Amino acid sequence: MVDVVVVGSANVDLVLPVQRIPRPGETVLATGLSRGPGGKGANQAVAAARAGASTALVASLGSDDGGSLLRDALAESGVDLSLVSWTDTPTGTAIITVDADGENAITVAPSANGELKLSGEAAAAVRGAKIVLSQLEIPFATVQAAAEASSYFVLNAAPAAELPDELLAHVDLLVVNETEAEVVAGGDRSSLLAKVPAAVVTLGAAGAVILARGAAEISIPGVSVEVVDTTAAGDTFCGVLAATLATGSDLTNAVRRANVAASLSVQAAGAIPSVPHGDVIDARAAEVYL
Ligand code: RIB
Repeated sequence: MVDVVVVGSANVDLVLPVQRIPRPGETVLATGLSRGPGGKGANQAVAAARAGASTALVASLGSDDGGSLLRDALAESGVDLSLVSWTDTPTGTAIITVDADGENAITVAPSANGELKLSGEAAAAVRGAKIVLSQLEIPFATVQAAAEASSYFVLNAAPAAELPDELLAHVDLLVVNETEAEVVAGGDRSSLLAKVPAAVVTLGAAGAVILARGAAEISIPGVSVEVVDTTAAGDTFCGVLAATLATGSDLTNAVRRANVAASLSVQAAGAIPSVPHGDVIDARAAEVYL
């Protein structure tokens, strides 16, 4: 049985460091340009695998340079790629501008991600997984099919979108940042529990809040660090959360470990290159949660 199956996107990230993110209609000059592996699904799969979980990725990649870049990065982290489908459509691309404070703005061309379907083989893997993790950069019907086939379904509702009741009915744990929480709940974050049995709201440097029906809200404080680049911090959080839940850990412990992992990821540039390994996470967690 695989610990974690991630059903999600994979992108080539084109990263442009800038002094500040341009306003509408404005042009700014970047201080560099780099190309690396990313995409919310791929980032989350790498985070889960590096955190110690056996992890498979269900994704759609183009048979091009970008697809090879992603295949190599995912394989190097130990992600099982046997459920990846290959297409003549180009691999997804994300343009990421990162400002001097490490904050970003991202535009994604989904391309091959838009063709992702849950094949019979992928559905069987989803059914057999301890935890299934998905996001919203792939067709909605694929997310719905994964949710229906899962025994424990974690949805990271990113990019933010309103979610229909037919999907919410299959979500065991929702992970959202504050903006996404507002879009999903349409109000105060406690109204999330009218839609899902449990939720984690990430608060960036301020940590995270755990909400569960019939239980008091739990705040996990942030870990103070020097921020280089926040890209994939949320993905690192989700992947490590899923990997830790798959070990049988309770949600509070899993959120603590995910929180530390996210704080490590913001100290390095890029998406997949910034995702920490389990030993580094656990050493830092031991210092933070003495
Ligand atoms: O969450 C960060 C990711 O969002 C990037 O890697 C980019 O590809 C987009 O999917």
